[in-house]
Amino acid sequence: MFFKYKYLLSQILILMKENNELIVKKIKEGTVIDHLNPSTALKILNNILNSGVFEDKRYSVLSNVESSNMPEGKKDILKIEYVELTPEETNKIALLSPGATINIIKNYEVDEKRKVFLPDEIIGIVRCGNNRCITNYVDAYGRKEPIDYKFDTISRNPVVLRCHYCERKIPEEGKTILDYII
Ligand code: CTP
Ligand code: ZN
Repeated sequence: MFFKYKYLLSQILILMKENNELIVKKIKEGTVIDHLNPSTALKILNNILNSGVFEDKRYSVLSNVESSNMPEGKKDILKIEYVELTPEETNKIALLSPGATINIIKNYEVDEKRKVFLPDEIIGIVRCGNNRCITNYVDAYGRKEPIDYKFDTISRNPVVLRCHYCERKIPEEGKTILDYII
């Protein structure tokens, strides 16, 4: 029982609490995506990063970790070992977490630190909220028009996008950008 418990503990990346501060295991090589908005790390893994990049890699997701300098007092962290993100992936992260920081880790040190930045044009990641938009059109056989979703970035924080085709802005009232991720 004790050994099973110990094994489980070793699988958890939050190693110990010291003076009420979380101490998280450092990685040797790879990418740490820090300051993610709470509860966005899994969405980023599933919808934004190319899963082929990390599926055989060790990665860890820390969600809703206390953080005094985040607006909601919490953040997510994503650590992917031996992976460097493409600039495109980095930019897309800005869709869900405009304040995220990308840390490139080399030999345990932060080799490079950069803020994410949402491109002016977003293609194929989020869908339009307008059911009658050409990008949402589905024929009688359930086939979608071969037109990619395409948005212009209107505001970066908070993220506001405008459909290139019908000009509907997202997120609509009462929704968040998470509701539109394909
Ligand atoms: N980190 C890691 N492995 C390393 C080095 C850093 O997992 N070998 C993580 C840290 O735990 C932290 C992030 O990468 O979550 C950034 O590290 P660092 O720049 O040292 O931390 P801060 O100074 O707190 O970062 P910032 O100023 O961006 O808040
Ligand atoms: Zn539209």
